[in-house]
Amino acid sequence: MAKKIAVLGTGYVGLVTSVGLADFGNTVVGVDLRQDIVDTLNGGTPTIYELGLEDYLQRNLATGRLTFTSAGGAAIREADIVFLAVGTPPAADGHADLSQVEAAARSIGENLTAYKVVVTKSTVPVGTNRRVQQIIAETSGATPGEGFSVASNPEFLREGKAVQDFFHPDRIVLGVEDDNARRYLEDIYRALNLIQTPFVWCNLETAELIKYASNAFLATKITFINQMANLAEAAGADIHTIARSMGMDGRISPKFLHPGPGYGGSCFPKDTKAVVATGDALGVDMSLIREVVHANNEQKRITATKLVRLMGGGVAGKTVAVLGLAFKAETDDVRESPAIEIVQELLRQGAQVRAFDPEGIENFRTAVLGEGPFGGGLDPQLRGEIADAAAQRLLYCQDEFAALEGADGMIIVTEWNAFRNLDLERAAQLMTGRVIFDARNVLDPAQAQRHGFTYAGVGRVAPG
Ligand SMILES: NC(=O)c1ccc[n+]([C@@H]2O[C@H](COP(=O)([O-])OP(=O)(O)OC[C@H]3O[C@@H](n4cnc5c(N)ncnc54)[C@H](O)[C@@H]3O)[C@@H](O)[C@H]2O)c1
Repeated sequence: MAKKIAVLGTGYVGLVTSVGLADFGNTVVGVDLRQDIVDTLNGGTPTIYELGLEDYLQRNLATGRLTFTSAGGAAIREADIVFLAVGTPPAADGHADLSQVEAAARSIGENLTAYKVVVTKSTVPVGTNRRVQQIIAETSGATPGEGFSVASNPEFLREGKAVQDFFHPDRIVLGVEDDNARRYLEDIYRALNLIQTPFVWCNLETAELIKYASNAFLATKITFINQMANLAEAAGADIHTIARSMGMDGRISPKFLHPGPGYGGSCFPKDTKAVVATGDALGVDMSLIREVVHANNEQKRITATKLVRLMGGGVAGKTVAVLGLAFKAETDDVRESPAIEIVQELLRQGAQVRAFDPEGIENFRTAVLGEGPFGGGLDPQLRGEIADAAAQRLLYCQDEFAALEGADGMIIVTEWNAFRNLDLERAAQLMTGRVIFDARNVLDPAQAQRHGFTYAGVGRVAPG
């Protein structure tokens, strides 16, 4: 039977989950504390950029199966299943800040009028689902497994491909402790079972750790190829040929072997730090992941430094076009984006910055000015420095060509398709200087040279 579902938090994960579960035929209420988000979503406009999301949102709103509200209590009381999809941002000490999860658990406890399955989708450190269970039990007086059940269902969607990932996941991980929870989850995910998606049933702790192990591994793989690219560059070798050959080995696989300016986003940076913090708390030295965190920060710094070097050793008074602000293509998310570090360094050194991103400008502007949810990710002091400079020397442009006008050099920070096919002839006409730093290796170096550019990529042999 179709279930009534409440999803607490309508960010990237909660919104896609709400829309997807409604599309499976469930009745879903998406809950967010922010009334502006709720109003926008009820009006049929997604609050995040994800390919295909608008269609799914509008279609499911029209059926009446999907609604959004800020009245969390009522939504919880009426639901059979409550998903937790609230944020778990990094705290200053590297631990995940669980205040949103704990507050949501308390409100579930306060509104536990009948049996419910509470499903944690947020990425939470091992032990958190037990804590959620305890909070609900204490607040409601109900017994776990009888009055309610807690399940862990970590989310693996990739921003930029979130809708596709929801409907075609590699696997569904489900940490459960009782048959009731299992039956409810089988019920709402029946559509995925029918297309033979693998289901991994395990205990709460295993499910929690699968998520961190997966993200820490991917972050390690990116960091590995970034350092290898730095080595290839110094040694006169070509990282693409190296990565392709490595990927031919079935044990390695070619995925996540693309060098760049360092990983960013809302997941890898915080989840790697949280793994280290969890290890510290449990007396296990996660030295490998600790080093990954360090090396990734270095990669962002190395990228900014290399840009300055390519621009002749200093950028004061020069104009630099920054193409791409989002942490990766097909998303408007700028959290921990390498572009933040790069723009900040350029501004610090006195450059004029002309920036463009197809989707990320508004969020970047918010991050820079230190307002709204994205502003919280920036060091307040850095935020202040950028904010001062921003008013004078940071200009957001309407497209890549506007950004290139009068620029002495350009850096490609995000691998948007529009930049892969950049019209270099037009770029050469618009720019004053002839420097390209392709921090994503999306351009053809030989072609760039033919148009008179000094080209540098990451770990690539300069065309001869
Ligand atoms: N973004 C991703 O690609 C991704 C992928 C997998 C897992 N995750 C994990 O999923 C979780 C959510 O991530 P996100 O990027 O969607 O977060 P987000 O910050 O974009 O959204 C969280 C939303 O929850 C709302 N909220 C907070 N407390 C609430 C409450 N008590 N009731 C209702 N709403 C509340 C906030 O207003 C916000 O809109 C995090 O733990 C994250 O690590 C994210």
